Amino acid sequence: MGRGPRGAARILRPTLCALVLIVAAGGRVGSAFNLDTRFLVVKEAGNQGSLFGYSVALHRQTERQQRYLLLAGAPQDLAVPDGYTNRTGAVYLCPLTAHKDDCERMDIAEKSDPNHHIIEDMWLGVTVASQGPAGRVLVCAHRYTQVLWSGSEDQRRMVGKCYVRGNDLELDPRDDWQTYHNEMCNSNTDYLETGMCQLGTSGGFTQNTVYFGAPGAYNWKGNSYMIQRKDWDLSEYSYKDPENQGNLYIGYTMQVGSAILHPTDITIVTGAPRHQHVGAVFLLSQEAGRDLRRRQVLEGTQVGAYFGSAIALADLNNDGWQDLLVGAPYYFERKEEVGGAIYVFMNQAGTSFPAHPSLLLHGPSRSAFGFSVASIGDINQDGFQGMSQHSYPSTR
Ligand SMILES: *[C@@H]1O[C@H](CO)[C@@H](O)[C@H](O)[C@H]1NC(C)=O
Repeated sequence: MGRGPRGAARILRPTLCALVLIVAAGGRVGSAFNLDTRFLVVKEAGNQGSLFGYSVALHRQTERQQRYLLLAGAPQDLAVPDGYTNRTGAVYLCPLTAHKDDCERMDIAEKSDPNHHIIEDMWLGVTVASQGPAGRVLVCAHRYTQVLWSGSEDQRRMVGKCYVRGNDLELDPRDDWQTYHNEMCNSNTDYLETGMCQLGTSGGFTQNTVYFGAPGAYNWKGNSYMIQRKDWDLSEYSYKDPENQGNLYIGYTMQVGSAILHPTDITIVTGAPRHQHVGAVFLLSQEAGRDLRRRQVLEGTQVGAYFGSAIALADLNNDGWQDLLVGAPYYFERKEEVGGAIYVFMNQAGTSFPAHPSLLLHGPSRSAFGFSVASIGDINQDGFQGMSQHSYPSTR
């Protein structure tokens, strides 16, 4: 059966083998590498403590130049010097070469203007995504802050900001995807509405949508937003959660794709790691012209485990339907010396997912196994999807 669009959710292409990322632990240098030991790609951060590699995506550039690039977010990187701003975060464009230090900084050209918006510590590069071959690039800064003035008092609204750029990584003013404001959160409202929504904590593309997670919306209940373009029409969608409760963090992670609860229509999968204290993953669908509707909620099993803080979709059993992997990095069993878990939910032929995982993988004590999970494509070309996970590096 048809698999639907091979979307941006899969960050890696089989022909390039698998790239796996490593996160830098406080102050240390991060790097990214692939599993093919004959042609190892390792990229190193220029600045200590930049969290280089916090997010990565593979991008295929076809405009102006033919090349594969690894997009690497470094959300704590130093600012482009302007005499005032210290630290903004950055995104690096890394060619797939044997050199360690040939990454270039992507030009986002956001100027500091502290009376109107604050870019200091905005975490540029917290999210990076590619729309796939010939597609665009998305980079987000979830701590970007708008400043409102009431008299002489300034009020700060951490609405977050995402930037869409062309396939060649430049801004093309003729492309509405890039010039559209993408401001789904209203900075004229306060934290009880969407004034602190932290848009861009997660995000990505399909062929005709761009989507953003905003876990700070509605007193940190959180929300998921999607902009869909069909021909010349642009529609914005979001999810109206019925619960009147803050601190669920819906939108902390977000993936959109088909072959999940419908062969061709998209399903929105979004993690809410503080839902009912155990965390949850929401499966939402979008029906013609209407907002996102809840189809199923998968709940975590342990308080504080942060179930849903990492999610990945992959067709694990090759039945044409996307299966779901959910990380719970703070899962813990003291007597068993277990720390961190990945829950595997096998898709029941597009009808639903089982309430309980088909498989539960554990890491060693204190490893934060499941901190990040990613589908890495068919790494050994056997027709099955490969998966990678990474744990939080030990700080000892
Ligand atoms: C940058 O750092 C200096 C020295 O710590 C500080 O005085 C200044 O306020 C910082 N700039 C911003 C925009 O926060």
